[in-house]
Amino acid sequence: MATNPDAERILQLCFASLLTQLVGVAAELGVADLLAEGPRPVDELAGPTGTNSDALYRVLRALAAQGIFTEVAPRTFGLTPAGAALRQDVQGSMRDLARYFGMPARNHAFVELLHAVRTGEPAFEHVHGTDYWSYLADHPGDAAIFDNAMGNLARQVHAVALEACDLSGIRVAVDVGGGHGHLAAALLGRYPDLGAVVFDLPHVVAGADKVLADAGVGHRADTVGGDFFTAVPEGGDAYVLSMILHDWDDARATAILANVRRAMDPGAKVIVVDAVIPQGDHPHLGKLLDIVMLTLLPGRERTEAEFAALFRAAGLCHAETRAPSSPTSVLVATAA
Ligand SMILES: C[S@@+](CC[C@H](N)C(=O)[O-])C[C@H]1O[C@@H](n2cnc3c(N)ncnc32)[C@H](O)[C@@H]1O
Repeated sequence: MATNPDAERILQLCFASLLTQLVGVAAELGVADLLAEGPRPVDELAGPTGTNSDALYRVLRALAAQGIFTEVAPRTFGLTPAGAALRQDVQGSMRDLARYFGMPARNHAFVELLHAVRTGEPAFEHVHGTDYWSYLADHPGDAAIFDNAMGNLARQVHAVALEACDLSGIRVAVDVGGGHGHLAAALLGRYPDLGAVVFDLPHVVAGADKVLADAGVGHRADTVGGDFFTAVPEGGDAYVLSMILHDWDDARATAILANVRRAMDPGAKVIVVDAVIPQGDHPHLGKLLDIVMLTLLPGRERTEAEFAALFRAAGLCHAETRAPSSPTSVLVATAA
């Protein structure tokens, strides 16, 4: 490694994207599930993963150096606790997110990040000739990976951020852009008296009934298909927008909020779950998520002041921000 620490830092950053790819490959191959019962020689893993044994060895060795697997004997690997989070059906699984970060269509856009920086337009549209949501509508395999990845984040990050907010008085929460209902399922599990409406594009929300039923909360949830630029369901006393506003520029984010404002009763709350960018140079996941938005979508992450301005433009009033240091914070607004 370089002796100059500044050169060393750049060297590390130049290699960083390989780590994303390695984790994505391990997740795609389902290696962690194959190690669930204990360490196995790499030659035993090559068959079930459909890989070249030596190439797989090199991947697992590189990931062992990152604490994801451990080489317990020459060419025999076991799981570490972090590696166990790459298993599919375990509490805290992040496998679907890792698969999504390894997804070729997504990564092709990142190769063209420079295009987004030069033009301010999403590199995804430059590469694929269509916007992100239309692409997913036309590619159900990739859409399933995306929706499941959102499920990992909803359970492991957004539901945790929402614990900073007491929803015990809420009767019906409308989850606007609620995807496959993972966040609604987590909230319904936490609040036994809560009801929920999961609202998303019709072909997306079609996947929510199963998630809600599997979580044992289907009887307290409705699913509604529609377009949040047209209207959102009425009758909620809380409107949750988790990872929605960051997908859109200010004009379209305001249009969504204005539709929420039209649908909500006077006493209802708007609960936005999004990264809130802090001042200064401090590391914050939102600063990288912002680059994901720059690359894939016409969206951006925002500061608290920028959120307050969006709320004002939509006839709402920012009341408070909870969990401000988490990767995703919770901003509460009411009718102005
Ligand atoms: C980043 S995902 C967030 C999903 C979920 N709220 C969460 O936190 O995991 C954005 C969601 O917005 C939905 N969406 C995009 N355009 C939409 C539209 N015009 N109307 C309704 N939903 C839309 C997508 O289908 C997707 O489920």
